[in-house]
Amino acid sequence: MTATHAFWLAGRQATGDATFDVTNSYDGRLVGTVSMPTDAQVEEAVEAAHAIREEFAATPAHVRAKALNHVADRLTERTEEIARLISAENGKPIKWARGEVGRAVSVFRFAAEEARRWNSGDAQRLDTDQGGTGRLALTRRIPKGVVLGIAPFNFPLNLSAHKVAPAIAVGAPIILKPAPATPLSSLVLGELLAETDLPAGSWSVLTVPNDKMPALVQDERLPVISFTGSGPVGYAIMDSVPRKHCTLELGGNGAAVVLADYASEADLDWAAGRIATFSNYQGGQSCISVQRVIADAAVYDRLLPKIVAAVGAQVTGDPADDATDVGPLVSEDAARRVEAWVTEAVDAGATLLAGGKRDGATYAPTVLADVPADVTISCEEVFGPVLTVKKVDGEAEAFAAVNDSKYGLQAGVFTHDLQTAFRAHRALEVGGVVIGDAPSYRADQMPYGGAKQSGVGREGVRYAMDDYTYERVLVLTGLDL
Ligand code: SIN
Repeated sequence: MTATHAFWLAGRQATGDATFDVTNSYDGRLVGTVSMPTDAQVEEAVEAAHAIREEFAATPAHVRAKALNHVADRLTERTEEIARLISAENGKPIKWARGEVGRAVSVFRFAAEEARRWNSGDAQRLDTDQGGTGRLALTRRIPKGVVLGIAPFNFPLNLSAHKVAPAIAVGAPIILKPAPATPLSSLVLGELLAETDLPAGSWSVLTVPNDKMPALVQDERLPVISFTGSGPVGYAIMDSVPRKHCTLELGGNGAAVVLADYASEADLDWAAGRIATFSNYQGGQSCISVQRVIADAAVYDRLLPKIVAAVGAQVTGDPADDATDVGPLVSEDAARRVEAWVTEAVDAGATLLAGGKRDGATYAPTVLADVPADVTISCEEVFGPVLTVKKVDGEAEAFAAVNDSKYGLQAGVFTHDLQTAFRAHRALEVGGVVIGDAPSYRADQMPYGGAKQSGVGREGVRYAMDDYTYERVLVLTGLDL
């Protein structure tokens, strides 16, 4: 019998009057039972965050930086335990779960550093015209108010960290709502935050069920919403509160382009290996996993067997096992959806080159060629371990194929040519272009977010800090400049 996990209400543990279970999608075992806040407890957390907002914004930078560094230190100390928890609640292979904890450490460290640099200088002389003689403008960024952070299941710790750490860095209270499938690592984050001196009310981790979220989204005391998840939910949130600041990190169908100059055996081995790894990491449940391979005809016939071999070498199995590359999807329903999309593509004429099988919640790493443009897997984000391959003639056709999508999160371009890299950067309608690697590369300090229907706004510690704040100018008059 496991104890019920409490949630975090204004910095202290609390339980409500109902619970829900978190299960492991690989073997169905119970991982934890989690308490849900009552409406009154949600109200208490929101009111506490709203009440503390001015005091928190005025907290000295060293206090916020110390708290952020403390979380980074404690995540480091507890890496293995937290990685095991992420793996159990999410089904993510343990090696990727360890990587996720390491990234969350970096996010808190970057936030501590940025907190110390934040609002240091930006003076503008105004005596450029006669009317401004003796005047100087100082600009500081001020929090817009309490942040409602809504985190997804696929990186349950690190994408929560991307919401919480920048909020603390700028002194904005945050209410974090983890995904119902994977709340446990966010609750541990709460444990670490509770060890700091951050004021009560400046943070809460509330395990609110999804059907109770519309009321929270509407609450005027929460003017900033940072959401990561599906497009339909993200846009429904934004449409329901058009006057709020919404950052939406939505889906993608990441393309990896392999161009004609990337042609040596070593080049193709590298490209095939990276494509295979990053179409399957976390069962493909990353918004920047490789879904589409677009290869120049000059390299296609040599690249394709290497991709099929590398995908076939991915080890599928128990996520708790160090040797496992590909674990289950978040649920059996998710795996059934992927299965249906692959079946639809094959029925419409696609060629199945690898995979195509489901075992419970696990879907085998899959490669499809000759995929018709109008089937679901060509148009939507698969969020599963499936990639499609397409042959093109030349760079222009390759870039047009990348852009032939409603999404635009990141793209990878395998080329050695610097001019091509710049042309790709100009031509591709995405938030990030990665040269010489898969689209799945993300460093947590760089701006991250989408073009087109992949989202609005940017994360990446400093960029989220910008998003959570606005510029307020202080004009000083009568100065002897
Ligand atoms: C995402 O799925 O959008 C996050 C990817 C990452 O942080 O690596």
